[in-house]
This record gives sequence, C-alpha cells and structure tokens, in this order.
Amino acid sequence: MKYDFSASASREDTNAEKYTLRKKLFATEDVIPAWVADMDIDTPDFVLNAVKKRLEHPVLGYEEVPESAFEAQKEWMNTLHGTKIEVEDIFYSHSVVASMHTAIEAFTKEGEGVIVQTPVYPPFFHSVKNLGRRVVKNSLRLDDDGYYTFDIEDFKAKIDKNTKLLLLCSPHNPVGRVWKREELQEILDICYENNIIVFADEIHSDLVYAPNVHIPFMSLDERAEKITLTAIGVGKTFNMAGFAMSSVVIQDENLKKQFLKAYDKVHYAQGASLSHVAFEAAYRNGKEWLEALKVHLYHNYQMLENLVSKYPEFVRLTPIEATYLAWIDCRGLGLKNSALKDFFVKEARLGLNAGISFGMQGSGFMRLNFAVSSAKMLEIIKRFESALQRKRVGKNKLG
Ligand SMILES: Cc1ncc(COP(=O)(O)O)c(C=O)c1O
Repeated sequence: MKYDFSASASREDTNAEKYTLRKKLFATEDVIPAWVADMDIDTPDFVLNAVKKRLEHPVLGYEEVPESAFEAQKEWMNTLHGTKIEVEDIFYSHSVVASMHTAIEAFTKEGEGVIVQTPVYPPFFHSVKNLGRRVVKNSLRLDDDGYYTFDIEDFKAKIDKNTKLLLLCSPHNPVGRVWKREELQEILDICYENNIIVFADEIHSDLVYAPNVHIPFMSLDERAEKITLTAIGVGKTFNMAGFAMSSVVIQDENLKKQFLKAYDKVHYAQGASLSHVAFEAAYRNGKEWLEALKVHLYHNYQMLENLVSKYPEFVRLTPIEATYLAWIDCRGLGLKNSALKDFFVKEARLGLNAGISFGMQGSGFMRLNFAVSSAKMLEIIKRFESALQRKRVGKNKLG
C-alpha cells in the first residue's frame, strides 16, 4: 500500500491545540480529542520534504509568495474543480477567517446585514458581530431524514436594502452538505438581483466524497464571477493548518479593488518562507495522496455509521457528503446541552464540539472529527459504544 493511514504520530508532546486545550475545554486530559478541524494523520511526506529542502538554505528573511506557488494552485483548481482562474486572481492570506473579516470590512458598513446560514462554523457569526455588523440569520432547513437544505423562502424574506453580504459555507461545516448546482443557482439569482456580494468559504472543497461534486460558486456563470470572493486553502486538505497559508480568489476587477482597500490596511504581507514551499508542494503532488486519504476517511465514517445504526433510540448520523466532521443528532439521549457534553467526556471519554456552539440549531447535536488513524478510530468507536451500551442498560433498568 502506497499510503498507510493505519497509525499516526502522537501529537501529545507538540503544541497541538487539539491536545493542549483539553483541560480547559473538557476539564480533563483523559479524552481523545475529536474536536478542532485538523487531522490526527501525518502531513504528507512531499510537503515535509519540500520544507526540509528549503531549510538547506540558511537564510529565512522576508519572501514574496513565488508565482509558481499560485500557478500550482491555479492548476489544481482549474483541473480538479473546473474553475477558470488566473494567477492574478489569487491573493495570499494567512487564514480564511482573517479573509472573512477583511471581506466584511471591504463590502459592508457598520450596522449593515450579513447573511449567515446556521448551524455553521462559529467564526461566521462571531466575525460579523465583532465588526459591528448585523447577523441576518437564515437557518438551514432540516428534514425528517436528517438532511439539510437552504431555506430559500426565508432567505428572500430576510433581505432588505441594508443586506450586503452572504457568508456561504460550501461544502458546509458542520452539516457536511455539498451544495448542488441548482441549490447554488437559486442563491446566486437572489444575490445578484439584490446586489449582495458572496464570500464563499470553500476550504473543505477538496474533501468531497463521490458521487458528490463540489461546484465552486464563482464558476456558476458570469454573474457569479462578478460577485464572488472565494477563500480556499491547503490547511484542511493536507493537514497543514500549522503553515497558516491560504488564499482568496477574486476574478472581477472592481471586486478586487474594493477588497484590496481593506486588505492593504491590515498589511497581510506575504507570509512565511516555509509555508510557500509547503503550499506549492501540496498542490503539485497531492492528488494521489488525497484520493487515498478520502477512501480512508470514508471508511472511518462508515464505522461510525455502523455503530450509530445500532442505537437508533439515542443517536442519528447526518448523511455526509464532504468534510471529516460527523454531525451527530443526539436528541434521542434526552440530555440538555451541558449534560450532553458531559456524557461524551465522562461516559465516552471523547472530547467533541458541542453542536450548540454552531448556533441554536445545533442544540442536541455533537460534532465528531473522524480524521484519525484506523487505530485511533477503533478506540473512538469502542469508547462511544460502551457509553451507549451503558445508557441502554440504565434505561432498561429504569423502564
Ligand atoms: C468552514 C471553515 N472555514 C475556515 C476555517 C479555518 O480556516 P483558517 O484556519 O484558514 O482560518 C475552518 C476550520 O475549521 C472551517 O471549517
């Protein structure tokens, strides 16, 4: 086997946030941390080797992002995702969340409305609030099969003349949807008609499971090109968030100018020497590794699916189309949110994200990061199963 995900290096003795914050978040270190969205899977060799090679040169001064790095990104996106971007459309950023803040500053004024589709990755609403803008909440619709869709009627109803920006999460964290072309088209029609700019956070777009296909919002048609900024990066795909390098893609010249006014105020500069080579190496060499990774991740998901299907009275898994983040409906456990978190920490010894942190619609849900080695996944399943089993026995005794 060319790529082996059966085991991974321990991160206990590194500065990994997932581990160092256990005590603060879960009041114990005795949990497998399955929360923040990075992987307990080794960053691929072709990335690490590029960095080692760069370190053979003894000077690490200020550097420009080399054109070849953005060339590699362009080729990756145009080949894998069918975009038609040019190197001139790509802007360096150290973080997608920082790019989101900059877009909010560039395209809205204080008090104006920004649409956020909850439940969603918390910085979507925090960034809007922190900048004194108004969160226009357009919650996703959840059907009886646990499948999420856009609520288009609500979307239309919430828009007024002060609504200026949509923060689109595509694919969606935490609900794992890959939005279909027709769904995105409806959003585009409304946004274009109402002069709403779209910040498309597509950081999870490489982690899509067949037969689902990621449709970049900017690629929908010419109107989409005019109103879309796309944030994208290698951090999730190749488990290299520690390099803090991503990018913003903007095709329209007016949009570029307006974005750059806010961007230049902050002095984004050009990032770190080691990140530049790591970023390029990932995009140039990553295709085969990524395919193998997705097979592994989906297998982990199926293990979870199998477990959850045995306890339908307590838990239900949201069907996943992308990401390595399982969105578990735990309302069957009948626990309030704080007790639900305790159940996972104390009974299962697992450190998950509480669904409520993704917005009120996440109440009763938990997010489990299954991007781990096969060995660790077995341990996660074992712990989760024994907690569910004890719960069942306890319930039967009471009943
Ligand atoms: C949808 C989404 N956007 C952005 C980020 C964070 O990106 P960055 O570290 O580049 O700010 C995450 C991380 O979990 C995410 O899930």
